[in-house]
Amino acid sequence: MPSNSKTILITGGAGFIGSNFVNYIFRKYPNYKIILLDALTYAGNLDNLTPEMKRNDRFRFYHGNITRADMVNALVEESDVVVHFAAESHVTRSIYDNTIFFTTDVLGTQILANAVVNYPVERFIHISSSEVYGTALSDAMDEDHPLNPLSPYAAAKAGADRLVYSYMHTYGIPAVIVRPFNNYGPCQHIEKAIPNFIVSALQNEPVTIHGQGLSSRDWTFVSDTCEGVDKILHADLDTVKGQTINLGSEEDVNVLDIARMILKIMKKPESLLNYTEDRPGQVSRHIACAKKARNLLGWEATIKLEEGLEKTVEFYSNNPKWWERYLWMKELWEKN
Ligand SMILES: NC(=O)c1ccc[n+]([C@@H]2O[C@H](COP(=O)([O-])OP(=O)(O)OC[C@H]3O[C@@H](n4cnc5c(N)ncnc54)[C@H](O)[C@@H]3O)[C@@H](O)[C@H]2O)c1
Repeated sequence: MPSNSKTILITGGAGFIGSNFVNYIFRKYPNYKIILLDALTYAGNLDNLTPEMKRNDRFRFYHGNITRADMVNALVEESDVVVHFAAESHVTRSIYDNTIFFTTDVLGTQILANAVVNYPVERFIHISSSEVYGTALSDAMDEDHPLNPLSPYAAAKAGADRLVYSYMHTYGIPAVIVRPFNNYGPCQHIEKAIPNFIVSALQNEPVTIHGQGLSSRDWTFVSDTCEGVDKILHADLDTVKGQTINLGSEEDVNVLDIARMILKIMKKPESLLNYTEDRPGQVSRHIACAKKARNLLGWEATIKLEEGLEKTVEFYSNNPKWWERYLWMKELWEKN
């Protein structure tokens, strides 16, 4: 095996960010082997992965649950690096039925972290979330911002985040905790705001805004996140080991303005905007301080919001078959 080869175990790599990351790593590093572990929940979709990769010996897929310790142990044992994306990831779902969020996000992470203790790897990259911070108490949220999770999803992610932190200190695992801010881009499930707005507009249906749409988020295009995780994967281990690192664009834009930008790109009228009551558990403002990522990794988000939204609109416009399969679910969650 060439000296620059690695075997990377990627959990949740059939989901939105995970699949973008798997495709990116496969393309960029011709000597790397990828083991993908994914339970293929409603959010996982093997069509997100390139046919070229699925046919290649460097890629192996395991259809399985992160909570299955025997399988997780065996996969970690043969890996050099673990990148852990697998999670239940939707705030609104977590409000109505949250048990699976704690099972997957917290206990799943515990099982994976135990495997890393028992079968040491070069590094373990845990994908946490900016949701752990709750609403911004300071203008730009750095990694020392208090953790005030506001939804069961955020609480589960905070539990996993602190679990990994404790394992670094108790067992000395070589972990890095990554806190991406709101990602958007190709292959994001239509339950999430941006694809939901685009898909509604494509069908000339109401674009539903919860409340006044004034809560703002730091929107980061998914390829920027992939590049950030790549840099964490390849940085000098002493530079990143034990660190918690935000990945965000450092700009916040409110949900209503995002919907308006999308309608403008799609040349659709603002009369499609439709306001309904606000949902509980939502943060009012998120804005990243990405200074640490800049200093440690030389990373910063490069895709401007307008450009990222154009690319995202292009994906959903060109791939109706990709999202049409989820429409029946949209009806279900809009009724509840
Ligand atoms: N999307 C965002 O804006 C965002 C922002 C910050 C952090 N994150 C975090 O990034 C990660 C990926 O997010 P995403 O938006 O791609 O999520 P996603 O919901 O699109 O994908 C999650 C993937 O995990 C898989 N999965 C779920 N439960 C599993 C289990 N028990 N065992 C194995 N696989 C399982 C699913 O099948 C799916 O492929 C998550 O940890 C999420 O919390 C996401």
